[in-house]
Amino acid sequence: MIQNSQQITEKMNSAEETKRQLAFMERAGDYVEKLAKELGRRPTCCVTTFGCQMNARDSEKLSGILEKVGYELTDDEDADFVIYNTCTVRDNANQRVYGRLGHLNSLKKKNPHKKIALCGCMMQEPSVIEKIKKSYRFVDLIFGTHNIYKFAELLTAMFESDSMIIDIWQDTDQIVEDLPVERKYPFKSGINIMFGCNNFCSYCIVPYVRGRERSRNPKDIIKEIEALVADGVVEIMLLGQNVNSYGKNLEEPMTFAQLLREVEKIEGLERIRFMTSHPKDLSDELIQVMKESKKICRHLHLPLQSGSTRILEKMNRRYTKEQYLALAEKIRREIPDIAITTDIIVGFPGETPEDVDETIDVVKRVQYDNAFTFIYSKRTGTPAAAMEQVPEETVKEGFDRLLKVVQDTARERVELLQGQTLEALVEGVNEQDDSLLTGRLSNNTIVHFKGEKELIGKIIPVYLKECHGFYYLGELV
Ligand code: SAH
Ligand code: SF4
Ligand code: F3S
Repeated sequence: MIQNSQQITEKMNSAEETKRQLAFMERAGDYVEKLAKELGRRPTCCVTTFGCQMNARDSEKLSGILEKVGYELTDDEDADFVIYNTCTVRDNANQRVYGRLGHLNSLKKKNPHKKIALCGCMMQEPSVIEKIKKSYRFVDLIFGTHNIYKFAELLTAMFESDSMIIDIWQDTDQIVEDLPVERKYPFKSGINIMFGCNNFCSYCIVPYVRGRERSRNPKDIIKEIEALVADGVVEIMLLGQNVNSYGKNLEEPMTFAQLLREVEKIEGLERIRFMTSHPKDLSDELIQVMKESKKICRHLHLPLQSGSTRILEKMNRRYTKEQYLALAEKIRREIPDIAITTDIIVGFPGETPEDVDETIDVVKRVQYDNAFTFIYSKRTGTPAAAMEQVPEETVKEGFDRLLKVVQDTARERVELLQGQTLEALVEGVNEQDDSLLTGRLSNNTIVHFKGEKELIGKIIPVYLKECHGFYYLGELV
């Protein structure tokens, strides 16, 4: 069992590490080929993603390597190799993983070749590792968020060992470029522009499991986007826990707004999105760049978390209700057709019904186009876990009250588009009704309409005929 290989390779530079991992891909490829001979077919693998867009992007990196070493990718967990890329932001994410692991074990009993791996944010928690070592002995490989670039090496180790392999790092300053990636969509892609988080909001576990903030070199980002565009991508989403603090720790510092200006210049790229913006760092320069841009989508995700200044302070969010409202108002004034969406937590320690009233007040004033509401989940090791928790009943009451307002205001906002003809990127065939296609407007609203599959990946005008709450039924024009 390897416990920690961090010391051995931390000192390599990115290019050397890439070369080293490519060599491991060849070695792992030999094992996969041997297995293929035994099975009389290509072995299959399934990558299941929990959590946010960062994890989805990480899963594309895992898939790229698995494909390269010879696996056939599938969505079926009956596969010869299953990997769970986990999330731990709220406890229900963890519970889902434990629940599904039991099912994986029963599948493994039927397939002697089956291997199971776990990675992602949940694995950075020592208590999780202890629990898996004790109660889920059938897992073959466990690694964390900081050494995901060593997946080929870990895969090789898994083939060469009979016991559970665990490799978890505490942190890293390494960013390894140019490893293979297998995209889920041919026409759109996420791009990491930074990793980690330095904000330490008092309820949040992300800084502990994703480590300190590191920005990627702008040249590497631009090079990656150019290659994606050459490969058919028209829409990109720049990813970071707080994109507004991009570039602060680079050797030659640059702002997020400056990066956007560079990305905008890439020929052939049609749409630019980004996630997530922390309100405390959102600059006038960014609003200006968004306003002038032809490519940046008319959508801003601006997490509020709470509308009560008292709670915001305890959350360590570093803005007040008034500052947030002033910011939202400025954005709406400068870019009137923008959609603003948000995240809200209900039931943070010490929250009273009056605090929830303050949140509802902000929702009514900002008129969010959509809001994700979460019940506070206590995360071990975060400062809020030690504070006095709110009784479940009170939380539920506040949550229901808020949800109703959120839904009503969002519906009103979405209805405003009725009768307009707007451009949509066609993302695929509708999941419920395969005579319909599903597209996404610049402001992130979904529209379903009749059309041919050939339109998938194209940006086309759609008439917004009927509003159905959060989405539209439309018509091609
Ligand atoms: N970096 C992003 C958020 C990443 S986590 C930002 O700061 O905006 C996504 C969302 O999960 C957060 O916005 C928050 O609303 C929610 N969240 C985080 N920790 C949580 C917890 N302990 N309980 C409930 N919701 C939480
Ligand atoms: Fe968590 Fe706050 Fe960092 Fe977002 S900014 S990831 S909520 S600590
Ligand atoms: Fe979850 Fe990790 Fe994202 S905890 S929300 S997958 S950064």
